[in-house]
Order: sequence, then structure tokens, then C-alpha cells
Amino acid sequence: MTTPAPVTHAEQSATNRSTAQAKISSAMEATLAALLAPGKGILAADESLPTIGKRFAALKIPSTEENRRAYRELLVTTLGLNQFISGVILFDETLHQKIGGIPIAEALGQQPIVPGIKVDKGTIALANFTGEKITEGLDGLRERLDEYRKLGARFTKWRSVIAIGKSIPSHRCIEENADTLARFAALSQEAGLVPIVEPEVLMDGSHTLGRCEEVTCTTLECVFGALFEHQVALEHLLLKTGMVLSGSKCPEQASLTAVAEATLRCLRRAVPAAVPGIVFLSGGQSDVVATERLNAICAAGAVPWGLSFSFGRALQDSALKTWKGSPASTAAAQAALLHRAECNSLALHGKYTRENETSSGAPSELLPAYEQK
Ligand code: 13P
Repeated sequence: MTTPAPVTHAEQSATNRSTAQAKISSAMEATLAALLAPGKGILAADESLPTIGKRFAALKIPSTEENRRAYRELLVTTLGLNQFISGVILFDETLHQKIGGIPIAEALGQQPIVPGIKVDKGTIALANFTGEKITEGLDGLRERLDEYRKLGARFTKWRSVIAIGKSIPSHRCIEENADTLARFAALSQEAGLVPIVEPEVLMDGSHTLGRCEEVTCTTLECVFGALFEHQVALEHLLLKTGMVLSGSKCPEQASLTAVAEATLRCLRRAVPAAVPGIVFLSGGQSDVVATERLNAICAAGAVPWGLSFSFGRALQDSALKTWKGSPASTAAAQAALLHRAECNSLALHGKYTRENETSSGAPSELLPAYEQK
């Protein structure tokens, strides 16, 4: 019998590397399975300091660190939230805060809800490209991801912004943002954190549904091209995108059916089937309309990816307006959040109607009838 040749140092390192890689992959798969649980979506509560400052200022709530903590505590301690919400995206400041004496990620984990973190540092003007933006935050990101993982985060988010205007978006702006998103996604996966890749095509403007579809398709094609070139594992990420909509100032607002058809046509053309899930942002739509459109999209037919929501404003608006900084209104604000979360959960099953707005006893904001064509 021949003695097997001793394992060389190089072979042992390769084995160790692939064992470590397998562990990282299975951690990301567990995170994805939890985030994509049927009937559940993601609460985006990751407003940066300037953004939460604006939201608070509109309601005359002072934007102190303690008020921001109390508000996020209200959101994440809503009883029963985990029936409809699988994950919460936090801001850096919040991930360092405690609620009820324990770190927020631990409190979420107990529910269980998966804690995530926004890791981009916001947008700046793209030099030489008037009206266009690039997102910053890659410098030092590897070290920050390591810290966020130690603080309990299991997924990350990076938002890029594409505006539609007379002669924008430019090809350069789309490419630059796509490349940045891909570098973020590669670093996240290296750290074992599931990246949410978010190229948001803004709804501001008077453009048509068709123009939004064209820009969203081009953007997604570019983003997936960049993800491919950066060797990002499509199986281990989520895409966060806007629905395909008429611009907010377009005189002709597309019907629910037209929005659902354009959104799905665009996603089917541009998003590989290997991607496990697509989550929608609300982008400034009113909460009820965002839920109606989500319902129309989810009811429209089979797709190769999981579909869900990752709303910020459309989940929080009524809760924040109910709370207004007053501890006495906490329970009512939590009821408002739970109501919206439940409505959006129904929408994922294609079972939402406007009647759900009045049946729960929660504060309901009936918006002007939605134009049907
Ligand atoms: P909105 O749903 O308010 O657009 O926010 C979602 C989000 O996370 C934007 O990055």
C-alpha cells in the first residue's frame, strides 16, 4: 500500500480558504432565507442625520440623539412587527444605540428580525455632470463592515441615485454608480454580509412611464454588468429598485395595471434569475398608493425571484405623524406602523384592497382615488 503524499502548505491553505468561503456563503444564505420569508418585507429606518432631521423638522420634533433613539425604539419594539417584517435597515448611529438596555441588533434578533445597516455616506454632485449624483462611502468600507458585523448587522444597503431630466441620465453617471454599487457588493459579500444593491431611479419630474422604463432598464443592465465584472455572487444579494412609474409631475399618471406591466417587463429583461429577491422602495409615493401598486405587481404573474417591499416613508409616514415626539402617542404610532406593515404583507399575496384601510381601526389616510386607465 502506498502512503498518501503529505498535504502541502499551499493545499492546506486552499482547503482552509474554501472552508471559510463555505461558512460565509451559508451565513449569507441563512440571512437571505430569513429576509425573504413569505409575506414579510424590510423596514428601511436608515435615514441619515440630515434626512431624519428634515422629517422631524416638518413635525417640529427636535432632532436630538435621544429623540432619534426613542423614535427608532418605537418602530422596532412594535409588538407583532415580525409577523410582517423580516429585516430592519438601520443607520450607523442607531446600530450603536441601545434599546431597553440592550444593543439594538440584539433586541431585533430576539424578535426575530434581521438587523441590517446602510453603509453608503450619501450622494454628492458628480463633477461636470449637472444635475447628476454619485454616492460616496467606499473609503474605509472594509473596516466599517467588519465593525458592523461585530455589532450584529447581517446585511447592508447602498443607495445610488439616477435622476431623469431633459438630457439626463448620462451614460457616465449610470456607469459610475453601477461600478460603485458593484464594489460595495463585493466588499459586503467578502465580509459575509448580504448586500442590498439599490440603484434608485427617481420619480421626480414630468417624464412618462415609458421613459422611466427605458432608464430603469438601462440602469439595471449596467448594474448587473458591473456586478458580473466584479465577480459578485448574484445568488447572495438583493436588488432594491423603484417601481416603473410616470414622473410625479407627468400630467398622465399610468394605471395600476400599466405600472405593474412596465415594472415586470423591465425586471424580467434586466434582472438575472439567479438573484434571489427584488425588494421595492417607495420613493415618495403616498403609503396607500405604494401598497396598491405593490399588490398589482405581486398579483400579475409568476417571476423567477422573490418579490417584496423595503419601504421607508410608505411604512413610517403615518407612524411618525401620529407620534410627533410625544411618548403618550407611542402605542398609537406603533398601531399605525403595524397596520401599514400588515397591508403591505397582504399586497405580497395580491390580497390587498382599500377596504383593508378602514377595517383595522388604525389611523387611515384615504388618499384621492387613484386614476385608472
Ligand atoms: P423610501 O421607501 O422612503 O423611498 O426609502 C427606501 C430607502 O431605503 C431608500 O434608500
